Amino acid sequence: MPNLVKRSLGWLTVGLAPLAPACGVVTTRAAPGGNEVPSVFERTLASARRGDPDSQNLLGFMLFNGQGAMPDPTAARFWFGMAAEAGSPIAQLNLAVMHALGAGTDRDLGTAERFFRLGMANPARPGDLAPVSLTNLIDASCDETYVEPTPGSQIFGTFCAGCHGAVGLAEYRPAPSFALGERMEKSDRELLTSIEWGHQRMPEWSEKIPREWIAQALGHVRGLSTELRFGLLHRLRPLPERAFRFGPMDPELSTQRREPPVGVEGPLPAFADFCGGR
Ligand code: HEC
Repeated sequence: MPNLVKRSLGWLTVGLAPLAPACGVVTTRAAPGGNEVPSVFERTLASARRGDPDSQNLLGFMLFNGQGAMPDPTAARFWFGMAAEAGSPIAQLNLAVMHALGAGTDRDLGTAERFFRLGMANPARPGDLAPVSLTNLIDASCDETYVEPTPGSQIFGTFCAGCHGAVGLAEYRPAPSFALGERMEKSDRELLTSIEWGHQRMPEWSEKIPREWIAQALGHVRGLSTELRFGLLHRLRPLPERAFRFGPMDPELSTQRREPPVGVEGPLPAFADFCGGR
């Protein structure tokens, strides 16, 4: 076991943030020492600006969720709009949800219906997205029980999301983004070994949480890319009561450091916050 891996466990003492989803803590500024790779947000922003509709949709998703940047529903709507115009079915459905709820825009059921029809009639929409009505879509989005909090999601949210991102889009630059399929080509056995014993810049978990939890967290990791495909609909997964956040490390522990949280004020808006006004 490399010393660095063992010692980097010092991260875990940095901060406990009750009810705070890790997705709110990221700044897009480059952190000193070792954060040489661009963040997922920066990469997505660059390709969205170049006009790639999938990146525009993903960027909207990140801005809506406060993942990689502060939550900004208005900017999210802008990027969903760009992607929807370019023909992205999920962006069209995301826009339908936003217009129906009045999230990042005025509530407008006519516009919502228009985007909904466009998305559902779009031949590129995921085949496994069941044909539903706009009302069903909104009800599902606002229904707290629509996405059950599985033990795996709670464990992941508590221990892993601080680096890997609450929806599987990495917060800590060197960490893989599971929602984008990164490292998912590896077998369960390989990944379990990495999680248990640490892998390069990732700390080991075998001494911290039970083996069963690690397996449950991995099960959740495996599902993250599917969730991303359905856009805003999976937004409602209840957050764990406590989540670990990661602040800057002691320079003596490692050369890998992360910026402290900047500009985070209170809890993030939950999707359900918009549901009261429907
Ligand atoms: C302190 C930040 C941090 C935390 C917390 C963290 N990870 Fe990681 N994780 C990383 C980094 C960085 C990598 C990439 C390491 C590398 O370069 O292979 C990684 C890699 C992984 C990989 C891929 C390993 C491989 O073999 O390619 C898996 C799976 C993983 N983490 C799961 C988890 C799970 C599950 C948790 C929670 C129990 C967790 N991680 C918590 C930083 C973290």
